[in-house]
Amino acid sequence: MYYSEDILDQVRTANDIVDVIGMDVPLRRSGSNYVGLCPFHNEKTPSFSVSRPKQMFYCFGCHRGGNVITFVEEYHNMGFTEAVNYLAQRAGIRLPEQEVSPAERRSMTERTKLLDVNRLAGTYYYYLLRSAAGKAGMEYLTSRGLSPDTMKSFALGFAPKTPSDGLYRYLKSKEVSDDLLRKSGLMNIDEKRGTMYDKFRNRVIFPILDPSGKIIGFGGRVMGDAKPKYLNSPETRIFDKSRNLYALHLARRSREDSMILCEGYMDVISMHQAGFTNAVASLGTALTPGHCSLLSRYTRKVILSYDSDQAGVHAAMRAIPMLRKAGITPKVLRLDPYKDPDELIQALGQDGMSERIRNAQNALMFEAEITKREYDLSDPDSRTRFFESVAARIAAFETQMERENYIDAICREYLVDRKQLQELVTRQLVAGSVRNGEASPGAGIRAGSLPSAASSHDPEYDPEYDPAALYGYEDGSFYEDEVTGEMLQPPPSASGRNRHATVREQGDDISRRLLLNYICRYPGIFPAVKQYVGPEDYGDGLTAEAARVIYSQMETRGSVEEASVLSHFPDTQDQAQIAGIFHTLDQASTEKDREKAVRETLVKVFSASPASSTADLGQAIRRKRQEKELRCVKIAL
Ligand code: UTP
Ligand code: MN
Repeated sequence: MYYSEDILDQVRTANDIVDVIGMDVPLRRSGSNYVGLCPFHNEKTPSFSVSRPKQMFYCFGCHRGGNVITFVEEYHNMGFTEAVNYLAQRAGIRLPEQEVSPAERRSMTERTKLLDVNRLAGTYYYYLLRSAAGKAGMEYLTSRGLSPDTMKSFALGFAPKTPSDGLYRYLKSKEVSDDLLRKSGLMNIDEKRGTMYDKFRNRVIFPILDPSGKIIGFGGRVMGDAKPKYLNSPETRIFDKSRNLYALHLARRSREDSMILCEGYMDVISMHQAGFTNAVASLGTALTPGHCSLLSRYTRKVILSYDSDQAGVHAAMRAIPMLRKAGITPKVLRLDPYKDPDELIQALGQDGMSERIRNAQNALMFEAEITKREYDLSDPDSRTRFFESVAARIAAFETQMERENYIDAICREYLVDRKQLQELVTRQLVAGSVRNGEASPGAGIRAGSLPSAASSHDPEYDPEYDPAALYGYEDGSFYEDEVTGEMLQPPPSASGRNRHATVREQGDDISRRLLLNYICRYPGIFPAVKQYVGPEDYGDGLTAEAARVIYSQMETRGSVEEASVLSHFPDTQDQAQIAGIFHTLDQASTEKDREKAVRETLVKVFSASPASSTADLGQAIRRKRQEKELRCVKIAL
């Protein structure tokens, strides 16, 4: 479904963003904006801002942002079409029935196109499971105790063994290009013949959805014992395994104040079917800091429900400190003698699982119990070393109250003298503060003061997670505009688009976004700007697409309507990035400083233009001359 710009305009105009968001999020007025606690991540001080004049929202904490439609998509966990329908209904607008036309499909961004391909593939598998061709799959899932309702709410599907190119041909009939099919991860490529065929064959299919309910990848399980048991979509532009969790789109709606973290798809599905709708799993990968920060947007409590084998215990020991670092209190659910949550539920039912959840073990007590296995407590030396290692874990807690409580608990469980343990903890604290130079753990990122040494000595450290490493800036200078001291919002973290870009490209992109921001804020500069920098000078990424829309609005109406710019980008991640363009923080600086900033940004964008690296000597000289001229041009705001 693809609605015309006119219809979307009508729907947006009829739904004031402050009214719509205000129904779900308490907002208070602050200057020309409204602010509140961000509904998309955990926070104590409001960084979620809603602007009535711009008809946009933006969170300075988690960088989510967009227009009223985006909000409904993300908050109510709806797809784009569903969100438009919801808002249309709210305002009493009737929507026309439409299909995506081939021309419209061509004009979508690549992310949106990939999402569309997955949606088509999901429909294909879903339909087949419920057809004669899916009999084997249906029998298999039924034999594992899944009800038709469960299969439906997880949108389970089936990929038959033959024909081996059934999905390929289906997607071709929908005019999906070979290039896109290759990027979708749904196809295997026969190098010799240069042909493609379906990656998933003879498997039941588990679609993987992002939190807003869009299919970003698939898992497929063989029926029986063949290897590999599970096949998963590779990472693609829309599928980042370390930043998505299976069933999060459902679990985020559960009313529990905790999340249950399992290892497998089937565990999660069994849990949900038994009523534990707050269960999620990582996607055939180990838990990453990215997963933890994702979880921390929705909950402060995670119950680890990993397999009871050695691998599962090991994974839990790794996960516990990582979760704590994200501000989450972990607990551990004990499954023995069963292998995984699915088996336990099959054996003991909902009540059995309920009881295990109620009795989930405190993570520190679990850590102590597992560590103990490496020591011989009847040997005095070994015993001391065991308590030292426990003391180190206790010392890692931030508040004295937590430390005291844990000291009590350990003393009770391991019959050790309180004073002695207390002393070990104190010693660890002193040693720790010397080692860390009194650095506070997990310091947040502030403009211009990136925690440069943060966690570089930390074994759990994930280089992808340090914004400085991520964007390639050693000193964080790109966060602060050199001229105005303005804070720039870097593109929201780590979508595939940014991760592979070079430092230079990142810097160029920030200049381009800043220039677009200036155009929106000071429409008066547009005639001067466009003499030097046209939409084609913005490269070929998402920013360039935004530039085209912004320039065309400037040309036709002399100003930019932010919310309608966003609606050119159906994908919510694209929207959040573009919302960032409109939300560069304003810092009090003089008009003269601002003019200087605009000019310098203009120069940067001009010289970063693809046209500046021309091989044509004449043109190169012309551009050099223009650049010189530009450096002294007068730009009135
Ligand atoms: P398990 O083998 O514990 O799977 O792997 P499971 O979910 O209990 O599966 P059933 O009950 O045998 O059907 C846990 C998870 O590890 C990933 C999958 O995400 C799986 O759910 N995995 C496992 C793979 O990605 N590939 C594999 O070959 C095996
Ligand atoms: Mn299992």
